[in-house]
Amino acid sequence: MKKTSNKIVLVGTGAVGMSFIYSAVNQGIAEEYVLIDVNTKAAEGNAIDIQDAIPMLNQTSKIKAGEYSDCQDADLVVITAGRPQRPGETRLELIADNARIMKGIAQAIKGSGFTGVTLIASNPCDVLTSVYQEVTGFDKHKVLGSGTNLDSARLKRLIASKLGLAPASVNAFIMGEHGDSSLAAYSASNVMGKSIHQIKGENKISEKELEDAWYQAVHMAYEIIERKGATFYGIGASLTQLSSAILRDEKTTYMISAKLEGEYGQSGFYTGVPAVLSSNGWERIIEWKLEESEIAKFNESCNKLQEVYNIAKE
Ligand code: 2OP
Repeated sequence: MKKTSNKIVLVGTGAVGMSFIYSAVNQGIAEEYVLIDVNTKAAEGNAIDIQDAIPMLNQTSKIKAGEYSDCQDADLVVITAGRPQRPGETRLELIADNARIMKGIAQAIKGSGFTGVTLIASNPCDVLTSVYQEVTGFDKHKVLGSGTNLDSARLKRLIASKLGLAPASVNAFIMGEHGDSSLAAYSASNVMGKSIHQIKGENKISEKELEDAWYQAVHMAYEIIERKGATFYGIGASLTQLSSAILRDEKTTYMISAKLEGEYGQSGFYTGVPAVLSSNGWERIIEWKLEESEIAKFNESCNKLQEVYNIAKE
């Protein structure tokens, strides 16, 4: 019998984690939230701060600072802990510091008896999701990364603005690493059923504008970090979107980091691909028929992730 109330545990109450919690509480996606952070005072302070907001947000959810033992009966654990990028630093360069942190978190969650779904945003997201699933030994379907959901949202927004449309009317997707080696899967993208190639043929958008849109989407985080030191609202909203799909057993499809085992000709690690989300995590990966140039870029991205994952496993 499915529980009627949803419980989310957040590990990492920094700006990303708390942006997620604020948007999740605002949207009422769960009835109970537990905050875990190595800085217990920060977890306590954030819990009290959100408790202040809940009545004014017309919500009745409960929130507290807690321990890993609180994962035992949780439906979803969201992990945002780890060092964020410094200006100009790539996500993959975080691996040494954040793999060590992730391994400790994985051991603690495994030891709690947790049996729910884990959603990871800590960067480098794909590699750390691979590390977490390896260390916990959890079913691969019940472990996912936020992947290229945010990257794809950025690409939709940029193309939509060019076409004078709302982002929801543009189905454009970035896949591969949540990072510099990602690619725009334009052969699988469309605008209200019209392929991107058709839109290009009608001179509504040029090849160069499409290339620029991908470049801007993939470098958006650097632009934000350069100006305000970190990103957190976009990734926070992305985590809420994905968490809601899981907790509501939606069977919706998103660009998340899922473990490849033969799909797209790759195996053994997580990366950004289209997948169906439900209360079991990610149910299945959708395989597009990509163009040769897209396959080559995807393979390059996977090779980069495999290389960094091999370092993280040491
Ligand atoms: C982002 O893309 C930094 O991965 C984070 O906003």
